[in-house]
Amino acid sequence: MKNLITGKNLLSGLVLLALSNTVVLANERAITYSEDIAAILFDKCSSCHNPDGIGPMSLLSYEEVRPWAPLISYKVERREMPPWHLDQTVGIQAYKNDVSLNAEQITKVIAWAQNGAPQGDPALTPPQPNLPDAGQWQLSSTLGAPDFVVKSPPYTVTANAQDQWWVRNTSFEGVIDEPRYVRATELKGSYPLGVKVLHHGHAQLRSFDDNGNRASGPVGRQGVGKGGDQFPEGTGMLIYPSGSINWNLHYFPINEIVPNEQAEAAVWLYPRGYKPEFETRGEQFFAADSGPGGLWANDLVLPPDSVKSLQGVRVLEKPALITSFRPHMHMRGRAQSLQAIYPDGSRKMLARVDKYDHSWQINYEFAEDAAPLLPQGTMLMITSTWDNTADNPNNPDPRQWVVFGQRGVDEMSHLWLGITYLSEDQFDRLTAERNARLTAASGE
Ligand code: HEC
Repeated sequence: MKNLITGKNLLSGLVLLALSNTVVLANERAITYSEDIAAILFDKCSSCHNPDGIGPMSLLSYEEVRPWAPLISYKVERREMPPWHLDQTVGIQAYKNDVSLNAEQITKVIAWAQNGAPQGDPALTPPQPNLPDAGQWQLSSTLGAPDFVVKSPPYTVTANAQDQWWVRNTSFEGVIDEPRYVRATELKGSYPLGVKVLHHGHAQLRSFDDNGNRASGPVGRQGVGKGGDQFPEGTGMLIYPSGSINWNLHYFPINEIVPNEQAEAAVWLYPRGYKPEFETRGEQFFAADSGPGGLWANDLVLPPDSVKSLQGVRVLEKPALITSFRPHMHMRGRAQSLQAIYPDGSRKMLARVDKYDHSWQINYEFAEDAAPLLPQGTMLMITSTWDNTADNPNNPDPRQWVVFGQRGVDEMSHLWLGITYLSEDQFDRLTAERNARLTAASGE
């Protein structure tokens, strides 16, 4: 086995360790599609690489997979596929929607491809995964039909072009008749072609509360590795019957014209009159326009062939539970991190993305007991790093000066956090409950 798996530029000592510990020890037989690789692809790739999915090819059978084996190995080795751009050496590593491969799985895929991608005994192939019906709302299996569905204005996605980033507003007047609490949301392209071209996007409700203050929140987010957002029981997002929905949709052409595509957002509400214990804004934009000390980078100047980092901090005025992290920069963006500086001065790296890629807007959803619970007065520090050199594979031209702007070739920086603000009592209770769970789990 050993000679099969000494890949030329294996990523790290970690991989090599896994390689010598696991793969070599495990057995003497060759790694085959049927016995080893199919299970990995079913689990980690098929949600996108299926006939209805956003992946450019289906990877559900040996016949489909075989021609792609060298490219699969290349993308997997570089951790470009599955798309998961998190730095796996620092910060929280437990996420609800983690689609990444572990070191052993990566090693297996590389070894298999180097050995000519053998099929093995077809009878040993695990059953194909049960893929959700792309024409149905995935949350409807547990929540029933949504309370309302809103649609984006139509947009024709051409057959062959660069990916397209499209922003429009629709009115939200008359969709609900009184303020209501949202329980869950889901966003998808229309079936069948829309679901293939809608790579990711979000529908943001921009309305005003009874005092005329802005009250915005997501009524749909389509991202990686999941089909909807459901708040935990007892947590809701209050929406008002006014304003507009801002559609922010990223399309990837699929070699076939998709005329008048309309993205759809479905919303499930709590019953009328119900008041959840925890109120969330769903996702909050963290940058200068939402308070002093943020980081929007509107004074950024990035000289040709340079690397630069900027930092900004925000102080939490109330205790908070952070449920997700979604970094945003453009083509020169390379890394972004979120650190907590606690009131006692201690610091903790919460999460860091080190392979940022503008064409993927991934929402990293912390696993329940890993989600940061932060006391009032904690400072959140965002650090963004841009790489305007030729080393950055996404850089269209390292000879350019780059400044702030809306286009992908301009730059910006901000962060979307899933955040629920808490009272002191709620903070103490959630902390105690979590500690009890963690103690019980470690005692078992
Ligand atoms: C969240 C959806 C998603 C998941 C999960 C995913 N892919 Fe992909 N994959 C895509 C999309 C979209 C593209 C095309 C755009 C791109 O390359 O970023 C792609 C591109 C690729 C390509 C390059 C194809 C080409 O023509 O350049 C390979 C190879 C690939 N994926 C393999 C995999 C493998 C193997 C896995 C699992 C280990 C996987 N992908 C998981 C969505 C996904």
